[in-house]
Amino acid sequence: MKDTFKNDINIGLSANEKSLPSKYFYDKIGDALFVKIMNLPEYYLTKAEFDIFKNQTQDIIDTLKIAPDTYFELIELGAGDGTKTKELLKVLSHKNYAFEYLPIDISLNALEQLETRLSKELPKVKVTKKQGDYFEVLEGLKNSHHPKVVLFLGSNIGNLGDAEAKTFISNLSDALNKNDKVLLGIDLIKPEHIVLPAYNDKAGVTKAFNFNLLHRINSELEADFNLQQFSHTPEYSENTGIAKSFIVSDKNQNVTIGALNKTFQFKAGEKIHTETSRKYNDDVLGSILKNSDLSIVTKLLDSNKYFADYILEKR
Ligand SMILES: C[S@@+](CC[C@H](N)C(=O)[O-])C[C@H]1O[C@@H](n2cnc3c(N)ncnc32)[C@H](O)[C@@H]1O
Repeated sequence: MKDTFKNDINIGLSANEKSLPSKYFYDKIGDALFVKIMNLPEYYLTKAEFDIFKNQTQDIIDTLKIAPDTYFELIELGAGDGTKTKELLKVLSHKNYAFEYLPIDISLNALEQLETRLSKELPKVKVTKKQGDYFEVLEGLKNSHHPKVVLFLGSNIGNLGDAEAKTFISNLSDALNKNDKVLLGIDLIKPEHIVLPAYNDKAGVTKAFNFNLLHRINSELEADFNLQQFSHTPEYSENTGIAKSFIVSDKNQNVTIGALNKTFQFKAGEKIHTETSRKYNDDVLGSILKNSDLSIVTKLLDSNKYFADYILEKR
């Protein structure tokens, strides 16, 4: 893991346009900061998707078309703290559905906390956690022939560029069997005054989350980033529907990463791209799903129409 981290950081910071992979936000500190983000007044995404999971649980279950006595696997990619999923697990468990919950996440800390909470709150639910990058874990899904429902919530797919999202959807589709389902949560394109504050809150939690990448590089790869000399600058365009977070160098400066035995130069105003958060509409989703074997069965919206959970079925 440490070698992959080191190599990815080296590749990202050596490029002409510097970038850092967003999956490295999530260590113990990053997980806790993300929980704080989900509770921020500006971060509408979690509240909107929770509204769907809380108030349309039975619609979700009906659309999945699974009989209570048919054993199935409920697989979640990038499960995080599972707050929304718990609403679905509660009903499935109370109605005695035969299933196993398989959360997959890159953060072992997030998985362990989720497992502990579920064992207390929903002891009947069988949980098998799996740590790893969901791009790699997809392959392993093919080994099981049980019916599958894959949850990919929180607009996690928005962290991928469109070409990457197409490849991801096509790999996911290949890992599934006919009639398996995907529940895909996506944030919808909306005006800047709603979107941008979600990535630039007044209390500075999203800034701390973004800067956690530099903290991790400092502490895990013996680097000397001076966090006082960088700024957090998210951008969003309603035309493209794409939000991007950057860390910008406030001055000309050098940063040495001990574990790489290498010094990186940053010019004043130079950007490090740290996260993409693509927003969707039906057309964008249609082009991502095109050429895959996944078809839209239904689309569930929250009461503000900010967020959509699509239920997809493998043909
Ligand atoms: C934005 S949070 C969303 C959590 C949850 N899906 C939700 O909707 O509340 C993203 C989660 O995905 C995990 N994650 C991010 N990139 C990942 C990757 N490439 N592979 C596996 N997990 C990843 C993170 O550790 C984190 O728990």
